[in-house]
Amino acid sequence: MSEIQKILNNGLKIPSIGFGTYQSGSNKETEKIVKYALEVGYRQIDTASFYGNEVGIGNGIKASKINREDIFLVTKLWNDDHGYKKTIEAFNKSLENLQVEYIDLYLIHWPNKLNNETWKAFEYLYESKKVKSIGVCNFKQSHLEELIENAKIKPMVNQVEMHPTNQKNELVKYCNKYEIQLIAWSPIMRGKIFDNELMISLSQKYEKSIAQIVLRWHLQRAIIPIPKSSNENRIKENLDIFDFEISKDDMMQINLLDEGYDASVTGVPANTTYLDFK
Ligand SMILES: NC(=O)c1ccc[n+]([C@@H]2O[C@H](COP(=O)([O-])OP(=O)(O)OC[C@H]3O[C@@H](n4cnc5c(N)ncnc54)[C@H](OP(=O)(O)O)[C@@H]3O)[C@@H](O)[C@H]2O)c1
Repeated sequence: MSEIQKILNNGLKIPSIGFGTYQSGSNKETEKIVKYALEVGYRQIDTASFYGNEVGIGNGIKASKINREDIFLVTKLWNDDHGYKKTIEAFNKSLENLQVEYIDLYLIHWPNKLNNETWKAFEYLYESKKVKSIGVCNFKQSHLEELIENAKIKPMVNQVEMHPTNQKNELVKYCNKYEIQLIAWSPIMRGKIFDNELMISLSQKYEKSIAQIVLRWHLQRAIIPIPKSSNENRIKENLDIFDFEISKDDMMQINLLDEGYDASVTGVPANTTYLDFK
């Protein structure tokens, strides 16, 4: 399989790196950087209704003049919109904001007590071809087990916080078993890994930036990273990870940085089961 894309459990191709857009700025600023990201080669764009930038993303896609079919567009259902009817309404709102006819991947943003009911709406959207794939974010194994037990269609993706100090190896094993593709958010740990000594030495050894080393490590673990940047040089830098390979030994060294618990760069408590954002 080509290194630049992966294949989901329903056969859909997904680019093996995406462009994150949380805190991408105003719709105007978002439009500009999304257009730039597409021009330099990103083909997966990650957003969420919660980010408030869907209009800017849609404008950026239009401005890029790249065919809609060549772009893999991801958005998410926010916590206030769970339940069958509200899910359909929120989805239609996202379509309208993004100014597109379909979404490539629609995700539940956070686990919720209404997961099963919401998932039925996701299955409806999938079967009526309004979305090409469906998945979840921030689901632990227990959430996935409960969902799969009640689902007609199993999720194609689980998007979770993942970086060298938070590797979620048990979850990786579980998702591999059920062919659920993992996507890593905060893949470069929002820069908090940049003063790590191993990372500094690997950066010197491979003559790549620390961000590139970490993003390459994700790729070699078969995980899709979705780094965010609003800076043109860094947007380009983060995509330039296909011309080198981290050795097996160095991959193992990075693996040892795992702190073995669900550390969070966002301050979400590790033991959270269902989040109640009110
Ligand atoms: N599903 C979820 O619950 C969830 C949660 C959080 C995030 N996400 C998604 O995941 C995406 C990525 O996560 P994230 O934004 O939290 O963190 P991230 O991608 O790990 O880090 C982004 C930060 O790193 C900086 N940066 C980017 N590239 C850099 C480079 N090459 N060198 C130095 N600094 C660099 C960016 O600053 P500049 O912009 O100034 O470059 C920004 O401050 C989000 O944008 C969003 O799309 C999903």
